Amino acid sequence: MPGVETRDPNRVIVFDTTLRDGEQAPGFSMNAETKVAMAGALRDLGVDVIEAGFAAASPGDAEAVRRVAGEVEGPVFCSLSRASEEDIRTAYGALQSTPKRRLHIFLSTSPIHRAAKLNLSAGEVLETAVRAVSFARTLFDDVEFSAEDAIRTEPDFLGDVMEAVADAGATTLNIPDTVGYSTPAEIGQVFAEIKRRVTPRHPDVVISAHCHNDLGMAVANTLSAVANGARQIEVAINGIGERAGNCALEEVVMALRTRADLYGVHTGVDTTKLVSISRLLSRLTDSPVVRNKAIVGMNAFAHEAGIHQHGMLADARTYEIMRPEDVGFRGTRLVLGKHSGRHAIAQRAESLGYRLTANTLGHVFAHFKKRADEIGEIDDSELLAIIQAVAADEGGRRVLAS
Ligand code: KIV
Ligand code: ZN
Repeated sequence: MPGVETRDPNRVIVFDTTLRDGEQAPGFSMNAETKVAMAGALRDLGVDVIEAGFAAASPGDAEAVRRVAGEVEGPVFCSLSRASEEDIRTAYGALQSTPKRRLHIFLSTSPIHRAAKLNLSAGEVLETAVRAVSFARTLFDDVEFSAEDAIRTEPDFLGDVMEAVADAGATTLNIPDTVGYSTPAEIGQVFAEIKRRVTPRHPDVVISAHCHNDLGMAVANTLSAVANGARQIEVAINGIGERAGNCALEEVVMALRTRADLYGVHTGVDTTKLVSISRLLSRLTDSPVVRNKAIVGMNAFAHEAGIHQHGMLADARTYEIMRPEDVGFRGTRLVLGKHSGRHAIAQRAESLGYRLTANTLGHVFAHFKKRADEIGEIDDSELLAIIQAVAADEGGRRVLAS
């Protein structure tokens, strides 16, 4: 099969669209320089396909695709394209410098898009799709076809389009939930049906999921697609993308890994690089990651509640389902604040060189709670100041337990 080598039926291809769908969203615009930096990090992360842009969208986008494909080596590089010869040729020109290139053609299939956007009948959409894929195959070995707004398309017509473009030579069939409308149960059925229709005649064709997050279900829907036969997932770092974004790479990859018992598949992603690439994107686009963001947010492995900290000190598996090191954090963060208990204070004091007597710990704890109410998080220097103040109050008596 051209493009990504996937002999292993349980290997899921990671198609990253941070630099295309992600970059299309307000606030995430990237120039060629930024895209090259991100593409290098995505390559190191181990993604299989990088969608570098939409070459026909603007001369700047074409230049960015050209530079990314020319300056970064390893993955397959891809450009988005409308179903027109002109777009396909422009993408071909931009991807000249790499032998590992893919064309990604999209065309809307849903009734609302056919009427309001394309002014084409269903038959004309099917014909246009087949013509575009056939032409693309004269230039590219690796052609992906996306039925834009697939989820709101009549299921029979979607199946007809997918069969026809596979017959015309498409090597990947993408079924996007363009408007983030689907649910896990529904999208699972759509994928199972397309697989049932296409796979017997085209066993090597890869079926792909591209889910938007308008109802907050992009990751859940992508997982359901995988459970029903998708072997490519289209994702973006930090979940950036049109409107509420795309399926977040870090979340779906860690879900597949953490719940390998359920899904039985794997990716080629080096998960220890997830935090650093998330931070890189955040810095390059000047867009902070919210602290409670799954996997890469600063609270993802932080604990403040006393009961949780007690459990964590005994065995991290009490409250953590992944190891922080596996996603690139240095370790768990036990945050000291008004919810923390004595155990955590005693342990942090000891790590700072103070093994507190029971009596002193009682005084330190009382001061600590008062101060935490005033300022929130108590960092190490605040705790040291409290310990030293208590020691002074105690008339310089020993605060260390023997
Ligand atoms: O959401 C979508 O339908 C897209 C296509 C271009 C794949 O981004
Ligand atoms: Zn999209």
